[in-house]
Amino acid sequence: MKIAIMGAMVEEVDPFLEIGEHEPLLKYFSKHEDVEYGGNTYHIARYRDLDIVLAYSKIGKVFASLTAATMIEHFACEKLLFTGVAGAVDPALKIGDLVAATQLCQHDLDISAFGHPHGYVPEGKVYIEPSRELLHIAKEVANEKGIELKKGIIATGDQFIADNERKEWIARTFDADAIEMEGAAVAAVCDAFDIPFFVLRAISDAADMDAAFDFDEFLKHSSRLSSSFIVSMLEKLSQRERSTKVRDRS
Ligand code: ADE
Repeated sequence: MKIAIMGAMVEEVDPFLEIGEHEPLLKYFSKHEDVEYGGNTYHIARYRDLDIVLAYSKIGKVFASLTAATMIEHFACEKLLFTGVAGAVDPALKIGDLVAATQLCQHDLDISAFGHPHGYVPEGKVYIEPSRELLHIAKEVANEKGIELKKGIIATGDQFIADNERKEWIARTFDADAIEMEGAAVAAVCDAFDIPFFVLRAISDAADMDAAFDFDEFLKHSSRLSSSFIVSMLEKLSQRERSTKVRDRS
């Protein structure tokens, strides 16, 4: 089983890496090789019984789509786990809370002038849902480790939101709990290629007037919370892979 692990910013994938003397070394993974492709670096590795491809895309929907499609079409990844940070829309969400997306939508996709709902284009859909199996695995990990994992609707757009009015519009229009800049793009690519995916975000700010300051302050800390949860999910996926292999052999 080959798994894509993707973030948007270098800080979001950095926790998986250790800085070596001459090059980054993978902290959790073995058999490290770097491949440059389409303007990004893909770290090819192994985690127990899993093949891993790890990369950050750069910020925004276009770069996220490119990286997700490359992971699937060029590197033949069979599942995709996204890790990173988000702004809270639901006031109950606090900095450091982990949110697993149950649905993802694009808040800046707008052809409402033609009578369509926000977030919709013909032949598309407003909400895309991640893999139930991966959500179930996340729930198991959270239960076993005693981690509080929240679930919610994630709204994506090519805008850093630091404005209560825009945030409240997104909350009303999409019933969103958190906002970020890549998840729904990754979801659209995975949905098109029928690849099970999972999007995890740790809250870094409240998308309000303090958002830019809080984001800078908490980006690294929240990125680490998200990536460490993803490593625990890999552990579970690896155990499942091993039992499948044993079953197939007997
Ligand atoms: N990612 C983290 N915080 C964000 C915000 N406030 N707006 C958009 N993306 C974000």
